[in-house]
Amino acid sequence: MDKVVLAFSGGLDTSVCIKLLEEKYDMEVITACVDVGQPRHEIERPARVARELGNYRHHTIDAREEFASDYIFPAIKANAVYEGYPLSTALARPLIAKKIVEVAEEEGASAIAHGCTGKGNDQFRFEAVIRSTTDLDVIAPIRDLNLTRTEEMEYARSCGIPLPSDKLYSIDENLWGRAIEGDVLEDPAVEPPEDAFEWTKPVDETPEEPETVEIQFSGGVPVAINREELKPVEIVERANEIAGTHGIGRVDIMEDRIIGMKSREVYETPGACLLIEAHRGLEQLTLTRSELRFAEIISSTYAELVYNGLWHDPLREDLDMAINHMQRRVTGTVKVKLHRGNMRITGRSSPYSLYSEEIVSFEDKTLDQREMAGMVKNYALQAAIYRKVCRKEN
Ligand code: ARG
Repeated sequence: MDKVVLAFSGGLDTSVCIKLLEEKYDMEVITACVDVGQPRHEIERPARVARELGNYRHHTIDAREEFASDYIFPAIKANAVYEGYPLSTALARPLIAKKIVEVAEEEGASAIAHGCTGKGNDQFRFEAVIRSTTDLDVIAPIRDLNLTRTEEMEYARSCGIPLPSDKLYSIDENLWGRAIEGDVLEDPAVEPPEDAFEWTKPVDETPEEPETVEIQFSGGVPVAINREELKPVEIVERANEIAGTHGIGRVDIMEDRIIGMKSREVYETPGACLLIEAHRGLEQLTLTRSELRFAEIISSTYAELVYNGLWHDPLREDLDMAINHMQRRVTGTVKVKLHRGNMRITGRSSPYSLYSEEIVSFEDKTLDQREMAGMVKNYALQAAIYRKVCRKEN
């Protein structure tokens, strides 16, 4: 029998996939779960469910360090944000796919399966990586059979898969953020109820006193918080805690999915919001005006590539090279003041600062003001000519 490795969360969709892969595809199923910083129980659940559903071989792969260093940190350098969304789910998908491919190769499997439906973004993201790195078959049982949620439930009942107990939201959580979909959130006119949030405090429960956090960057990535040097995973965790406590990082947007469908998306990304804000602040001090303008273009292209699942497109590597070269000087310290759901940069310093207090000062004479006259005189030359032409016409 051919083997298939299934990306397995232990939830309804992927549990149904196990049984479908056996029944309709006649395959031997091996399950795998990649740890990208989801809560403990989401790592333990698939292992347990795989056992309970029939003692399937199950792999747990810890990819947290790799996620932080090779995916989150490049996204910080790029200030990667798509329509207001710091790309938590989107960034993790290519890494999850990569790890599942490794398991499939190790197991000698002939195919990889995932539980994505035909409506979302993740089908694109998984398959783009799988197909660009292997010749393995890809099977998406839920999409293949065009199953609705109700049909899935019926099928699950018929083969003894335990049904979820009145689960409200569909949540995808990793180190970089928490995405909340479904239930009342599907109506974009309805305010997300407080119970949708876990990482961020509602403003009225945040500390009365403001807190100033000091973030140190080296080469465009954060290396210490409040002077404590931390590993990438710890930096992100610490940033999530600090910003979440002050109610920072709630994102509520209308998002344009890859297939064009609009969807209302709610996120909690406190650490991402804080670290990217601080990073931008340091860039303002260390990059030239033209670099900053170009970085903005790179940033939106980068975010779109990540959102669209094109992590393996050579353009992403090209952009990383340009970004890395630019980011060499994004080294220094940023102070951010957090209070009642707001944050504001209150201090920036860098050995590569392009700011000169001397030149900007009113007392200084290094810049001879008289030399500016010629530069200023013809500055708006085209506008002056245009206005003259207009005057003649009237
Ligand atoms: N819309 C987001 C994305 O495509 C997040 C989807 C998260 N999934 C979920 N079940 N909440 O990246």
